Amino acid sequence: MPLIPDHIIQEVAEKNDIYELVSQYVSLKRTGSSYIGLCPFHNEKTPSFSVSPQKGIFHCFGCGEGGNSIGFYMKIENLSFYEAVKRMAEKANVELPKADSFDYHKSDQRRKERELIYEINQAAADKFYENLKNSKDAIAYFKGREIDGAWAKRYLLGYARDGWDDMFTHLKNKGYTESDILKAGLIVGNDSGKFYDRFRHRVMFPIFDERDNIIGFGGRVLNDDKPKYLNSPEGPVFSKGKNLFALNIAKRTRSDTVILVEGYMDVIALAMHGYTNAVATLGTAITPDQAKMLKKYFKEVVICYDSDGAGRTATEKAITIMRNAEVKASVMYLSGGKDPDEYIKKMGKDSFNTALKGRKTDITYLIEYFREKFDINIDGEKVAYIESLIPYLLLVTNPVELDVYVNKLSSITAVSPQALYSQLGIKKVSTPARAEKTAEIKRSQADTGRTKLDKAREGVIALILSDINLYAANKTALTEDMFGDGAAGEIFKYIKTLYDEGKRVDVNLMMASLSEEHIKTLSRILSIDTHISDEGKAMKDFIRIVNEEMRVAKIFDVLNSGSVEKLNEMIKKNN
Ligand code: GTP
Ligand code: MN
Repeated sequence: MPLIPDHIIQEVAEKNDIYELVSQYVSLKRTGSSYIGLCPFHNEKTPSFSVSPQKGIFHCFGCGEGGNSIGFYMKIENLSFYEAVKRMAEKANVELPKADSFDYHKSDQRRKERELIYEINQAAADKFYENLKNSKDAIAYFKGREIDGAWAKRYLLGYARDGWDDMFTHLKNKGYTESDILKAGLIVGNDSGKFYDRFRHRVMFPIFDERDNIIGFGGRVLNDDKPKYLNSPEGPVFSKGKNLFALNIAKRTRSDTVILVEGYMDVIALAMHGYTNAVATLGTAITPDQAKMLKKYFKEVVICYDSDGAGRTATEKAITIMRNAEVKASVMYLSGGKDPDEYIKKMGKDSFNTALKGRKTDITYLIEYFREKFDINIDGEKVAYIESLIPYLLLVTNPVELDVYVNKLSSITAVSPQALYSQLGIKKVSTPARAEKTAEIKRSQADTGRTKLDKAREGVIALILSDINLYAANKTALTEDMFGDGAAGEIFKYIKTLYDEGKRVDVNLMMASLSEEHIKTLSRILSIDTHISDEGKAMKDFIRIVNEEMRVAKIFDVLNSGSVEKLNEMIKKNN
């Protein structure tokens, strides 16, 4: 972050006390020298979020989030590093240096550009809303879908007038330039360079981001014309894959579950029946980014797509995305209605609630749904049925969970669990892409579970950070190799460089130079209590464990490679 000078970063971090900042968002309870509370970054019932005012950091032992006061402010307010520092500097009366570098200026410009687009979108939404109040057609359309004025107001629904420049003229009259209105995606240009309204004679659904800014619109025809929906184009603030319709509302319910549906109308219909914890994608398949956003606020994603073939296929894709993002997902299937909107209006809230209660876990749903597609009395189809489930079973990383599904499949097909397991094993070897993926998931799980090696490495770093003398006394034993090429390695290198130059380590500056993932590791390391009776001995123990674990890992690598030669070489070297 070369934009902001180091001394400003330090001053801003120090003057914005982490305890005071966090308490504005989380209720904290004192335990010893630190505080604990419910993590604002994931959904939890027992507190695993800790704040250490002494060290100036926070760390969640549940989800792994962590950092200093700047990091906390960035995450909770969803700000860039620069924006966070700027606002915190204002609060603490720290003067930021004048914009002298080009980059500094550019990042400020980008922020201003985004804010201007939010403003234009808000003005457009207000206008669409006014139009709706004056349009018999649009009112009749919404009435036909059981949406009255109060609900239209709640979602700021609107109407784009039939004509070519109603919105364009309105926005120009408000003082916005053609180029800014174009950036907001509200007008389009034709070949002769003339601009006209993108949305014409459509009912309008504003799309908000997590912070209640209007980032774009979805517009629906009032009849059966095509295209049925038109969305804002991708732009500086609108990205279909990185936002979800009504997440700003759903996140406020603090519900454990979120209902994921396909359409804007589905979301509104569910809300009208009391389910305000529903969100929809923006006309595209769900993305890993969106899965991550949902994971931030909810424990379980209930996939509730249309009951047609396209909805079924989209459900399968969503299950894969959720599994890969390690998000718990379930599926509710609505028979008797095309989509959640139709279903809840036709069948009523109780019926919807029964379907919700009866939702299946993602894999159970697939086992049961695929079962209907094959006639397992025919051997070939039975094999095909099992084959179709293998890719999904490979996504199950928890062995107990996997066993439940393998046994279920075994009792349906009368194929032994052993055979099913070996089929899973065979697939792992024969489809390298998938096998790699499984290995990757296993590895990332091991990371959260953290090995003895990780813990020992982190122990060493915690100790040298707490006392430079512990570094000096063990300097020759502490090599960069010892810490691997992950977060620990990165952090160690940073400390070593400064210590070797006789400098101190400033945690706030270190955080400003590390990636988000590495900051999480650092905050965990800093949360380790280093007030132990014999730090010198602990240091020696940790170093010994790191070296032993690395030696063992190397032997396993050689064994796994199956090379007797290499093994011999290694044994000779060690003797
Ligand atoms: P209604 O017919 O109003 O109930 O729409 P719906 O929301 O049920 O629509 P549908 O299930 O057909 O589509 C689900 C979502 O896909 C919509 O909310 C849109 O976001 C998107 N979508 C549907 N049709 C189109 C289209 O023609 N173009 C684009 N870009 N998106 C579409
Ligand atoms: Mn619909």
